[in-house]
Amino acid sequence: MAAKMWAGRFSKEVDERVNDFNSSISFDARMYRNDIEGSVAHATMLGECGIIDLEESKTIIRGLKEILVDIDEGRLQFDPNAEDIHMFVEAELTNRLGATGKRLHTARSRNDQVALDIRLYLRNEIEEIKALVKKLIEVIVTLAEKNLKTVMPGYTHLQRAQPITFAHHVMAYAQMLLRDIGRLDDTYKRMNVLPLGSCALAGTTYPINRERVKELLGFDEVMLNSLDGVSDRDFCIELASAISILMMHLSRFSEEIVLWCSWEFKFIELDDAYATGSSIMPQKKNPDITELVRGKTGRVYGDLNTLLTMMKGLSLAYNKDMQEDKEAIFDAVDTVKLCLSTFIPMLETMRVLPENMRSAAAKGFINATDCADYLVKKGLPFRDAYKITGTLVAKCIEMGVTLETLPLDEYKKLSEIFEEDVYDAISLDTCVMQRKSQGGPAPEAVMEQISYVKEKLNG
Ligand code: ARG
Repeated sequence: MAAKMWAGRFSKEVDERVNDFNSSISFDARMYRNDIEGSVAHATMLGECGIIDLEESKTIIRGLKEILVDIDEGRLQFDPNAEDIHMFVEAELTNRLGATGKRLHTARSRNDQVALDIRLYLRNEIEEIKALVKKLIEVIVTLAEKNLKTVMPGYTHLQRAQPITFAHHVMAYAQMLLRDIGRLDDTYKRMNVLPLGSCALAGTTYPINRERVKELLGFDEVMLNSLDGVSDRDFCIELASAISILMMHLSRFSEEIVLWCSWEFKFIELDDAYATGSSIMPQKKNPDITELVRGKTGRVYGDLNTLLTMMKGLSLAYNKDMQEDKEAIFDAVDTVKLCLSTFIPMLETMRVLPENMRSAAAKGFINATDCADYLVKKGLPFRDAYKITGTLVAKCIEMGVTLETLPLDEYKKLSEIFEEDVYDAISLDTCVMQRKSQGGPAPEAVMEQISYVKEKLNG
């Protein structure tokens, strides 16, 4: 085991179990690129401010860039005995440059360094998640455009309620996902503030230039309280909550797809490449992807809970508990990306079965509200119309018919207002096509929301 950089104060080597327990390299190595990027900016500033010699700063920057290439190209492996990625890079730099390498950590602590690295790492991840969510919305919009007139039952309490179209149904998810993008953008804004320069907790006596580092690393602002700079993990919690809400949306969509591809619904058929079989029942075609997305949603909620609970009792400023932030937030980020990248092609290849949606819509009296509205439009108060229609439905059930096939004389027995035109008023197509109110299922209303969503995506 190599001697620790902080070994000076200690009279013994650390116990091997403590060494392993303490080490985070197994999970923070993935931030090597960000760690090096942060160090390059720091070294640049140190040189420019004359805190270290300008030539030495250039040597350090060159050394850091070489380390980056060597890791990228597989020539340099992470040392599992290193305490963390920050120590690993610094030790490697010192191996290569000797005394000059040792100057990099001037006016900096791992406390502000780690806070910086996570922000840099997650900034990229947010962009990747956003790109995937946008792709998913595009797939939904295409699905909607093809199904503007595909009538299906809309549900409340999972009971057939009123007729809608498949386009209208899936576009609800597009709206939810647009809000998810908004939350990711919001998270990004508060994440994009520079903690470096907070040092261990109390700033520094060196004449550092934090504005310059901010500029070099593309941050919008500098964190103005050094204690806050090193103890804040709000950005991890915000991201985990934005991802949790996004997962909740994917999970609800998944649940519907599970239902829709069951024989009880058969509204859709998954492509064979995106479904799985059973080891014993030859007839089975299971929607495993959607079930896994639903299941993994719980896991992401767990990550959010880990972060919230980890932070709740911590005194200012840095505490080692905070090292636990990475596995939780990385897991949330990895999981949502994995779910999205499987869910998108699954949805893209899914076959819609409009006939089955339509025959489900034809059952269940989902035009009963329209029948009542027919009477209202002819002058009856809604409550009276509601009551008459209820009685008609009961009559239909008794006779084993639907409102469309109930003879006109049965209608007339309950109200003389009914005429032949009632059949047109309660036809499924009329019911859907007439629901033109803003946000409604009529094709023109759905087209309006499609344009809105497209505009937001491209804006
Ligand atoms: N590996 C540590 C973490 O992830 C880096 C910061 C360590 N700071 C310290 N004072 N021990 O939190």
